[in-house]
Amino acid sequence: MNHQIGFIGGGNMAQAIIAGLLKSGRSSSDILVSDPNAECRKALSAMGVASFQDSAPVMAQADLVVLAVKPQIMDSVLASIADSVKKTQIIISIAAGITIRGIRRQLNDAENPVVRVMPNTPALIGEGMSALASDTELDDDIKEAVQKIFEACGHALWVPNEEAIDAVTAVSGSGPAYFFLMIENLINSGIRLGLSPDVAKALVIQTAKGAAGMVELSDVGPDVLRQRVTSPGGTTEAALHVFNEGDFADLVDRALIAARDRAGELSKDAP
Ligand SMILES: NC(=O)c1ccc[n+]([C@@H]2O[C@H](COP(=O)([O-])OP(=O)(O)OC[C@H]3O[C@@H](n4cnc5c(N)ncnc54)[C@H](OP(=O)(O)O)[C@@H]3O)[C@@H](O)[C@H]2O)c1
Repeated sequence: MNHQIGFIGGGNMAQAIIAGLLKSGRSSSDILVSDPNAECRKALSAMGVASFQDSAPVMAQADLVVLAVKPQIMDSVLASIADSVKKTQIIISIAAGITIRGIRRQLNDAENPVVRVMPNTPALIGEGMSALASDTELDDDIKEAVQKIFEACGHALWVPNEEAIDAVTAVSGSGPAYFFLMIENLINSGIRLGLSPDVAKALVIQTAKGAAGMVELSDVGPDVLRQRVTSPGGTTEAALHVFNEGDFADLVDRALIAARDRAGELSKDAP
């Protein structure tokens, strides 16, 4: 029998995951959601998924409970479900900055398996990257059940411990914005070089996809791929020389350290 997956919060992220689950063949009868927002419940009904204003029916039936509410309200949501958590339930949080320790504390020091997940926005188009962590050694079947939820909207992998989630946040959580920035600037520069906006956008998008695909499929690293397209005295070398003059590697390094440190600060401040 399939696990019942319950979502507390049925907004953007929950809907992206649910859409993926349904697409991957999961039955809508395996999914339950609670969300006070009537618009959200309407959208979920349109997907054929049962949704409730209150969390009680979800907590009563779900084997896996995905906490998909904004971090600011996590405190009150945890307080509202604390007394209905069953010993066998697996608790999964996708809320940025909310620690497993904080979740356990709010749930009356629950000893349930708790998994913290950092997904990213491309999950909304089924291309997400989620990293999963727990504070205890989990059985393989639990790990597999949780991982499958997030593989429904992209890729998912486990990191060794929760501390790694701050680095994950810096790399893949905030990462889409770095690529948006690069893409935005490449398009703008292409336009400045005389290309039409449509042509510049098409060139940049396919180049980004192609480059990512080559890194994924190739048996050599991105450094070697870069060297292979950089002929001495050629155009690529001219451009890379300018990036290097601005110490691109150091800039990226400092940006990620700033994101990682900020993730740590936000976790400390979270309820
Ligand atoms: N979006 C991302 O790319 C991303 C990436 C990584 C992590 N996350 C995490 O994912 C979580 C959800 O983000 P999201 O973008 O899906 O937010 P969202 O669209 O605002 O969804 C949250 C939903 O929870 C509802 N809600 C409020 N109080 C509730 C309660 N007591 N019980 C049940 N549901 C309640 C909200 O209703 P109202 O609108 O009426 O308040 C809203 O529909 C956040 O914690 C965020 O940190 C998101």
